Amino acid sequence: CGIVARVGEGDDSTDELLVGLDNLEYRGYDSAGIAVRSDRGLDVRKRAGGIDDLRSAVAADPPRGAVGIGHTRWSTHGPPTDANAHPHTDCTGDVAVVHNGIIENYDELRDALSAAGHRFDSDTDTEVVPHLIESALADGASPAEAFRSAVDRIEGSYAVAAVVGDRDVVYAARNDSPLVVGVGDSTRYLASDVPAFLEFTDRVAYLEDGDVVRLTPDEFTVTDERGEPVDRPVETVDWDPKDTGKGGYDHYMLKEINEQPTALGRSVRGRADPEAGTVDLDGFPPGTFEGIERVHLVAMGTSYHAAMYAESLLASRGVPARAFMASEYATAPPPAEDGTLVVAISQSGETADTIAAVRAASAERTLVVTNVVGSSLTRECDDALLVRAGPEIGVAATKSFSSQVATLSLLAERLRRDVVGSPSPDAAAFLSALTALPDQVQQVVESGAAERVADSFADSEAYFFIGRGPGHAVALEGALKFKEITYEHAEGFTAAELKHGPLALVTEDTPVFAVFDGRDGDTETLGNVQEIRARGGPVVAVASGDAPDVADAVDHVLPVPATHPDLVGVLANVQLQLVAYHAAKRRGRSIDKPRNLAKSVTV
Ligand code: G6P
Repeated sequence: CGIVARVGEGDDSTDELLVGLDNLEYRGYDSAGIAVRSDRGLDVRKRAGGIDDLRSAVAADPPRGAVGIGHTRWSTHGPPTDANAHPHTDCTGDVAVVHNGIIENYDELRDALSAAGHRFDSDTDTEVVPHLIESALADGASPAEAFRSAVDRIEGSYAVAAVVGDRDVVYAARNDSPLVVGVGDSTRYLASDVPAFLEFTDRVAYLEDGDVVRLTPDEFTVTDERGEPVDRPVETVDWDPKDTGKGGYDHYMLKEINEQPTALGRSVRGRADPEAGTVDLDGFPPGTFEGIERVHLVAMGTSYHAAMYAESLLASRGVPARAFMASEYATAPPPAEDGTLVVAISQSGETADTIAAVRAASAERTLVVTNVVGSSLTRECDDALLVRAGPEIGVAATKSFSSQVATLSLLAERLRRDVVGSPSPDAAAFLSALTALPDQVQQVVESGAAERVADSFADSEAYFFIGRGPGHAVALEGALKFKEITYEHAEGFTAAELKHGPLALVTEDTPVFAVFDGRDGDTETLGNVQEIRARGGPVVAVASGDAPDVADAVDHVLPVPATHPDLVGVLANVQLQLVAYHAAKRRGRSIDKPRNLAKSVTV
């Protein structure tokens, strides 16, 4: 879910809140609402549906006022209905609350409040908060005391913001869910993420867990969980508001696919010296990882596929590594062993499952590889390595994957040197290939081959993806992208796995995309392809210039430029991103906001 709040000059809170919600829609989009303190009192408008539905609902008679809060929802408790949309109010209608996260003790709070006569209108856990505030106000607390007392009574993960009474004040608190303050001229903003208010201000202060903040037009004051005043420094972010727009493309996803050369360049520039065969990672000088004996990579979704990719890169460099789905690691962490480095990979730095894995880890050291400065995981982990992909808005992750793999490639070289004691034998060739990758991705995005392939399989029943090593990670990512945005059945497998079961699904209506990366395993993959073709299954090879000539053995080839075998997967993945994009576009799908999903899953 996404939260936004504003308190300040003028009475155009509604406009600024809607802009903020538009920019946060990637965090959830099944219902949305705002509450603005207007001369009619607290004016709450909320709707099932996206921000455009809300905008239409307020267009005729927008609330006007200097103070407001807004929310875009990804449902956890209760379906996406008007009633379950945020903000939620108390019985007097004088308190409005928006919330991101889960209130674990809501059942018990709701029972107690109901017994005391409070009436609930929704199925959400959030609704207990305005009633707790109301109850404290009724007992004589000031608005600030009432907000703090409500926060003290809720357990779980939350970012919560409230408007209480008739003052130009917003109260907010965070625990395990991101919140950032925006500092404008005579206006203060608050949001789950910086892009919400980036067009109004680039000056931000990140809140910490346990913080309670009081925002007025001219200041924000923060107290920690004990109620002691604390200072949260104001920083200037270097994101450009236009980076968060569509820039002339039909979809954010296509824009972000096309941004990969630039994003990759940023990930690698100044960090790789191909001539010397060395990497220079700011904050991670040679020797940083001495004493590390093994690496556990934890992540979810696309970032998990980057973790699998990195597992292969590390293993082939002699560094013991294992990729874990973060949610599994959190519930069943492997036994503690000295010398373990846990590397969390997360585009947003806010994924709750990944945060839980880091907390469950009994590792010597933790490191996050993330795209977002100041995100929760950067605070949770001992160290942070930024992937520098720039803001990614499309729910389906694209450029963040390429940049994660590039950044993890550099980290793999650093770890190899520190763990094994010498650089990889072909470090210079690998780093040189990494530096050339942006131009090669550019060739792939310009080629047009993926659209033709997507068109040839417009009516298929299911889509399978196979590969080995890093190519397996790419097969899983290719399938994930395809299912996320086309809503078609898509599955990824290791190439050899197919004949041990999934081959039963293969027919002439199930195209199989096979990744060939120019390694020894390509011969075996070619054998697997022949097994598929013998059963009538059409095959699309995604093949590097260095792979064996597969053209005669398959129905279509999506070519990628020749590069180091460790990096073919990045290029192959771009082809598969484009196949998924064009297949989804043909089907008229909601590409940037696929049904049921959210970009940042903070619960
Ligand atoms: C959600 C998104 C995925 C994303 C995953 C991990 O499931 O829909 O696209 O890969 O979270 O997100 P993270 O921000 O941790 O990389």
